[in-house]
Order: sequence, then structure tokens, then C-alpha cells
Amino acid sequence: MLEKLTQLLKITPPKRWQIEDFCGIDQLHLGGIGATHKLLDGLSDGLSSHSYGLDIGCGLGGTGRLVWAKLGCSMIGLDLNTSYIEAAKLLNTNIHPAPKCQFVVGNSLHLPFQKESFDFVTSQHACMNIEQKGPLLKGLYQVLKPGGQVLMHEVMLQPEATQTDVIYPTAWANKKDESHLCTWAHFHDLACDAGFEVAHFEDDTNAAVAWLQQTRATNSSPRVSVPSKPIFTPTLPLGPNAKAMSANMQGNIQAGVLQVVSLTLSKAL
Ligand SMILES: C[S@@+](CC[C@H](N)C(=O)[O-])C[C@H]1O[C@@H](n2cnc3c(N)ncnc32)[C@H](O)[C@@H]1O
Repeated sequence: MLEKLTQLLKITPPKRWQIEDFCGIDQLHLGGIGATHKLLDGLSDGLSSHSYGLDIGCGLGGTGRLVWAKLGCSMIGLDLNTSYIEAAKLLNTNIHPAPKCQFVVGNSLHLPFQKESFDFVTSQHACMNIEQKGPLLKGLYQVLKPGGQVLMHEVMLQPEATQTDVIYPTAWANKKDESHLCTWAHFHDLACDAGFEVAHFEDDTNAAVAWLQQTRATNSSPRVSVPSKPIFTPTLPLGPNAKAMSANMQGNIQAGVLQVVSLTLSKAL
């Protein structure tokens, strides 16, 4: 992936890359960059260039770069996948001025940070592989400063659905063994057990379906005239299964199996 990305970045004539140019590969979640803008609207007032944020399961780092562009905060993106972290660093160095984002390889379950290091944490479609959601939430609570918040945009099971109802591959799992989904009710209880207060919850499922329908129609219809073909597409990070993943996401949501949610958890002062 890194080699291909390096080639794509060297287009002729040379381009002055903007953060938004990479949204086909660094916004790997339902709703794309629009969903990230909406999530970040939930960040509390008072954050500034002196604030620090953590993005867990950061992928190629788009969420962190957008936080920096909107608020000037310093960001750390953490991901298990070494190639994604290398790609995130490469994208960052191709933007001028470089966003104040660092990227580190690591596991969200074993955060390599001191207690109360961050003003806020973001997580987009990054908890669905993690079975131990209780320890995950306790770890996030520890690294947050008092008064801090966790903003999440995640996929969960609908109340009556079970893991076996989900059709794979999806963007986070090629097969059932790699996927660990839970319901919002269960997640809510785990968040409260970890010490959080649920400050906001929103069901984004209908918006996600509308976005999937529009994105998939644009990509597949020869009649839609696209001014210029996108250079960076999800096949680069997700591989040849990217289209099947997108089709299965739509199928799983429309079958009433998956729910797309955004939420804010707060830590008391
Ligand atoms: C669907 S991608 C989303 C990436 C990014 N948040 C975005 O929205 O563009 C899920 C990411 O979570 C990462 N991930 C999964 N489990 C993780 C863990 N335990 N610790 C850190 N990263 C993890 C994966 O490597 C992958 O990059």
C-alpha cells in the first residue's frame, strides 16, 4: 500500500495536497468526511491549540487531521496496523503546513499514555474488533483529563440482532471471528461502569444508508459524469474486497442487523 501511495502522491504537475484530497482513504467510516465534521461539532467549546486529543484506531489519520484543521489541537493517532500508521505519516508530510498530528502503532486496549493526558478522545468505527469493551472504556477514562469527553461514531448490533446475523466481509472484519459487536444498551452500561456519563446519543443509521446508496450509485453508474476520477479510493487501504464490504454494510443495515451511532461520553470535573 505504501509504495502505491507514494506513487500516487507524485502526480504531474505536482499538487499542493489539501486534507480533503485524502478523504477517499483516510475517512474509512460510514458517512465519510461529512460524518467526521458532524461528530467534531460535538467537541466542547474552549478547546484550542493548547489542547491534546487522541484518536484510537486512527487508520490513515483523517479524523486527527480534521480536528487540527478545525480547532488547531495537537492530535495523536494510534492504530494496531503498522502500514496504516506509516501511510498516515506519509499523508501528513505531504500537507503544508503539516498538521500537528503524531501517529503511533499501538493497541487501544493498552494505551501507552499517562493518566489524564488528553482533553478528548475520538473513535470512528474503531471499537468493532475489540471484544473487551469494558477494559477499553476504563482505559479511555484513565487517559482523559477531568471534564474531558470521548466522541464515538461506531457500528453496533440492533437490539434484537446477534453476531451470527452479520454478513461478512465488512470494513472491519473479513470473517465473524474478527468481529466483536455489541448493542448500544450493553455499551451504555459498560460506559457507565467505567465512570462515564452519557452526554449525547444519536442514531445515524438512516443517514448511513442514504450515504451508502449515494456513494455506491456514484461509483457504479457509467451515466454519472465525474469531473475528475478520484485518485485515492478505499481499495487502496481495504484491498480488492472494498466493494463487497460496502455492499454488505448496506445489506446488514437494511436487514435490521446493524445500527450506526454517534455518542459523547463525559468524565466529570
Ligand atoms: C474501519 S477502520 C477505521 C479507521 C479510522 N478510524 C477512520 O475512520 O478512517 C478501523 C481501524 O481500527 C483499527 N483497530 C482495530 N482494533 C484496534 C485496536 N485494538 N487497537 C488499535 N487499533 C485498532 C484497525 O487497524 C483499523 O485501522
